[in-house]
Amino acid sequence: MDTKILQVKPENVTPQELRDAGEILRRGGLVAFPTETVYGLGGDAMDAGAAAKIYEAKGRPSDNPLIVHIADMDGLENLAKEIPDVARKFAKAFWPGPLTMIFKKREEVPEGTTGGLDTVGVRMPEHPVALALIRSAGRYIAAPSANASGRPSPTLAEHVKEDLDGRIDMIIDGGAVGIGLESTIVDVTGDVPLILRPGCITAQMLEKVGGRVETDAAILAQTPQKNVVAKAPGMKYRHYAPRGEMTIVEGETPAVVHKIIELVEEKRRQMPEAKVAVVASGETRGKYPPEILVVEAGSREKEGDIAAHLYAVLRDLDTMDVQFIYAESFSTDTMGQAIMNRMRKAAGYRILRV
Ligand code: TXA
Ligand code: MG
Repeated sequence: MDTKILQVKPENVTPQELRDAGEILRRGGLVAFPTETVYGLGGDAMDAGAAAKIYEAKGRPSDNPLIVHIADMDGLENLAKEIPDVARKFAKAFWPGPLTMIFKKREEVPEGTTGGLDTVGVRMPEHPVALALIRSAGRYIAAPSANASGRPSPTLAEHVKEDLDGRIDMIIDGGAVGIGLESTIVDVTGDVPLILRPGCITAQMLEKVGGRVETDAAILAQTPQKNVVAKAPGMKYRHYAPRGEMTIVEGETPAVVHKIIELVEEKRRQMPEAKVAVVASGETRGKYPPEILVVEAGSREKEGDIAAHLYAVLRDLDTMDVQFIYAESFSTDTMGQAIMNRMRKAAGYRILRV
């Protein structure tokens, strides 16, 4: 299959420009598109055949449900069987935006889209291209992140091309995404809303709007726990994995830098041929001796900077064929929990504390 690339300027995208993309979706084809979190791989959510194509293109296990993207509140009424009051409050406060809510699904939503579950994840994205595409197609769009399964989520159209070229009908290139990590997921089917995946919308932000919120124990765990299974099916897979072996060093920054230098030198002595790299912040990169390869993930002081660059850094490490990665921990800004959740998984929970 020949994958078309469509360049658009998000600030002034027109329905006209997205006419072909909308047509592809109505025919049951696949279109990758930018959202404010990461690029999504879209197909018609009400068409089980389109969902099957998404799983195939990504090489994703089909028990892992897809998030359905809508452009207005009518969409939610048509997908969810019940809409609890707290969900209406969250929608009012955070939609369009990086929040996915899990509802009991209506009959009409195919199980092919929901991984066989009787619930459906719904999100109204805050990106002009995503919203225009949903409207142009006149469909609700099921879209997982547009990476090959097991690779870091794409934050640029080039990342989508790397993973899915020739496997999907179209990639809409709207430039770099803003946030860089996937949406917060909150399950609103129970008595108390339950966070299944941390993101840019934090528990505190949700609590301000809707009262008490809980967080899935599998997320809070520093290591994978026996008998604690993540409630979002996708969270149980080893995601976001660079090909190299990654170790995270946590602690006070000067001690972390000192320990990482020690670890790199030790690895060099044991395996002089191996390619080793350090993931550091803008503030610490100058603290490593020049013979150590340092990749910068962004500034700790600029809110959101590290989140925005993390996945691109993980991809770069693969491109450079790095075999051993030592990463600082970045838990300072409000996205700290979301960042460290992704990094711990990428590291397969290989974490040292100093
Ligand atoms: O920011 C995002 O959410 C991006 C953009 C494209 O919108 N999408 C995204 O989709 O991250 P994906 O498929 O990579 O991650 C979806 C996660 C998976 O962990 C999945 O298990 C969970 O959402 N999920 C979806 N529907 C669910 C449901 N009904 N119950 C529990 N978890 C669900
Ligand atoms: Mg994903």
